[in-house]
Amino acid sequence: MERLKIAIQKSGRLSDKSIELFEKAGISASNNSSRLLFASASDFPIDILYLRDDDIPQCVADGVADAGIVGENVIWETGQKVVTAEKLGFGKCRLSLAIPRDAQYSGLDWFNSKKIATTYPNILKKVLQDNNLTADIHVINGSVEICPVIGLADAIFDIVSTGSTLLSNGLVEKEKMVYSEAVLIKNDKLNEGKEQILEKLLFRIHAIKAAKSNKYILLNAPKDKLEDIIKLLPGMKSPSVLPLADSNWVSVHSVVEESKFWDIIDQLRAAGAQGILVVPIEKMIL
Ligand code: PRP
Ligand code: ZN
Repeated sequence: MERLKIAIQKSGRLSDKSIELFEKAGISASNNSSRLLFASASDFPIDILYLRDDDIPQCVADGVADAGIVGENVIWETGQKVVTAEKLGFGKCRLSLAIPRDAQYSGLDWFNSKKIATTYPNILKKVLQDNNLTADIHVINGSVEICPVIGLADAIFDIVSTGSTLLSNGLVEKEKMVYSEAVLIKNDKLNEGKEQILEKLLFRIHAIKAAKSNKYILLNAPKDKLEDIIKLLPGMKSPSVLPLADSNWVSVHSVVEESKFWDIIDQLRAAGAQGILVVPIEKMIL
């Protein structure tokens, strides 16, 4: 039986979320024994490789792994030829220019002829070009954030997510240049069998993503207001309407998009809805 080899980050910003995604998809990916380099899912034809995130694009491009979960930032930096199968909606971050807290900042020009430390020289080169800046790029392999303190650079160009790394190193984010999130990538020449496994995985991922951005809503509606209330609830097809013991009222069930949620709730209350319950959805198959 064919199996699909997927590379994920061994330890870092994306590792827990990647494992969580597999678990929600019914695939047990975690390796109890403090994470070996390899795990075989027993319930799905997938093998997991735990790698350094920087190595994932190349492994997928070379076919050492069939697919991988990695930040777009790493793909852009390595310039490897891989196919993005799905944006995953987690691991969101930006690549920013940051400077010491006490520096006098005058705008983007400030970076001209400065020394900027980064692990993303290729992306930085492009960013500088696009903004007509000339700066000295200082490539470093880790702990970029300490460079200004020890006098190795005037500024840094690095990933910012919560901002706590910058804060604890006395740095301030001045320019947000590129936005990135985790994506599922694949090799561009997968065989039929592997493509089929990936399709199955993507089907599950779509259900998880849809569930995350939607809520299940239950409410009581006076029968004479039902028509107005239903108009506010698009639902997957149309809302379910169930009778209640009190024949003047019905129970209405539907699905609402998280982003429109508070707007809809206000309108529902104004239209006469009562006893509104909102519950998370586990999986949603469209
Ligand atoms: C990035 C970056 C910072 C940190 C920023 O590392 O290098 O150290 O995340 O996050 P914060 O704003 O939430 O503090 P990443 O996890 O991508 O790992 P790597 O750079 O070592 O591969
Ligand atoms: Zn890395």
